[in-house]
This record gives sequence, C-alpha cells and structure tokens, in this order.
Amino acid sequence: MTLTDADYTSANTQHLPRQEPAYFQAYDLHAYYGESYIVQGVTFNIHEGEILALLGRNGAGKTSTLRTIARTDDPELRHGEIWLDHKPVHEMTSYQAAGNGIALVPEDRRIIPGLTVEENLELAQIAPPHGWSIERIYELFPRLGERRKQEGVTLSGGEQQMLAIGRALARDIKLLLLDEPYEGLAPVIVQEIERTLSEIKALGITTIIVEQNAIAALKLADRAIILDMGQVVFDGTAQEVLDNAELREEYLAI
Ligand SMILES: Nc1ncnc2c1ncn2[C@@H]1O[C@H](COP(=O)(O)OP(=O)(O)OP(=O)(O)O)[C@@H](O)[C@H]1O
Ligand SMILES: [Mg+2]
Repeated sequence: MTLTDADYTSANTQHLPRQEPAYFQAYDLHAYYGESYIVQGVTFNIHEGEILALLGRNGAGKTSTLRTIARTDDPELRHGEIWLDHKPVHEMTSYQAAGNGIALVPEDRRIIPGLTVEENLELAQIAPPHGWSIERIYELFPRLGERRKQEGVTLSGGEQQMLAIGRALARDIKLLLLDEPYEGLAPVIVQEIERTLSEIKALGITTIIVEQNAIAALKLADRAIILDMGQVVFDGTAQEVLDNAELREEYLAI
C-alpha cells in the first residue's frame, strides 16, 4: 500500500499537538521496505537523559523503528520528522545521523572480522567527534581490556555485545539505540550487561532499548512505548507497564 501526502493526514490517528520540543522527537513516522508499509505513523518523545523501552511482540516494528531513526536506507522514511537536540535527523543520511550522535547497536552486533577488539574500537574513532577513550571503555568493560588483542568475532556473545556498546561509546553520542542487547545471552551475562547499562544510565546518555525481555528493559527504563503492527498503542511510564498485567498480556505476551 502506498499513501500520498494527503492520506497521511487522514490516516494518522495520533495527531498530537506539537508541544515544546523534547530533546528527541519522532513525529508521525511512516516507513517502507519497498512497498511493504511497516512503520505506520509512530510519534514519541524522549527527554534528555531518559531511557525509553520500546516494546512489542515479534514483528511489531521495533527494529524497523530504530532503523528509521538511524536513517538506514531500509526501511525508507517517506513521511514524518525526527528531531534530536534541535537537528532535523529526517533530512540526514545514515552517515550524517551517526555524525550527529545517533548510535545504533544492532541485534547482530556487526563486529568487524579480521580486526582485534582494540582495532574495532579504534575504527569507531577514525573520524571525530570522539566520545570515550579506549581506556575508559576498558574500565567499563574490563573483559574487553583483557581481550584487547583477540579478534573481535571470536569473543563470546556477551563480550561481543560489550564490544558493540563500547564501540558506540567511542563516538560522541547523543542517542543510543540498543536492539535486543540481551538476546541469546546467559542470565549471568545479562546481569553483567544490565549493570553496565545502569552505569551508562547514571551518566545521562539518552537511550532507546528494544528488548524481548521486557521486564529487564522496564527495570532500566524511565518510560515505555508499546508498538503493535507498526503503531504506538501505549506511551507511559515503565512502572505503568510493570503494574498493568492486562496490557502486558495483550501486547507483550508476558
Ligand atoms: N527487510 C525487510 N523487508 C521487508 N519486510 C521486512 C523487512 N524487515 C522487516 N520486515 C517486516 O517488518 C515487520 C516489522 O519487523 P521488525 O523487524 O521491525 O519487527 P520487530 O518488532 O523488531 O520484531 P522482533 O521482535 O522479531 O525483532 C515484520 O512484519 C517484518 O516481516
Ligand atoms: Mg527486531
């Protein structure tokens, strides 16, 4: 299905009045994979330093929403606006969005083969603006320091997740997008990453976390939105979702 500009106005059921701009604002996003219409009018805000849990069942459009915000080519953003710290991200390429502080840590972590842990981190710092020093990243993740000379792709799943997060922090980021950081990890490693994410939270890095493990994400998050079939069906505090069993059953199956 393809909508014209006029259709968006009538199809959009989330006509929120535009208020005082938040630090991050996604407004009426519509995005497509080819002709598949997936992100269907997504609107939400995040205040600076907040952690937002982006939840929803398999196929709800969580990854697609993150990719839309990071301005990847797929899905293609055809309508809507994305503002980060007063900058129009919707007008940017993915490269420009990264340069303006949007860091997507994808589910598959994308560790670069043939490079050591340290080289993976150095590569993230090849162009300014720089974020954390490599030594500081090793302080946050001592395991990465111990394995600095090891090829990145030979790390365990949990260590690769640490490297992917470390690589994001190596750049000067304003918005961290985490797609299922706990995916496929043993509970003890999940706890370790949870602890690090709490430390990152204490530093005030604005973050969106997508997780199948909704309870873990909600423990960390200040606010939550729930997506269903590419639309926002809930926007509130993390505590409200934790307290509302009906809502969780309907949209999260937990
Ligand atoms: N490259 C693609 N081409 C066409 N359709 C796609 C593509 N990637 C995802 N989709 C479709 O878009 C919809 C949303 O997918 P998305 O990956 O955003 O969901 P998700 O909420 O992240 O799900 P999960 O919890 O399984 O990761 C799904 O119906 C999916 O089949
Ligand atoms: Mg996904």
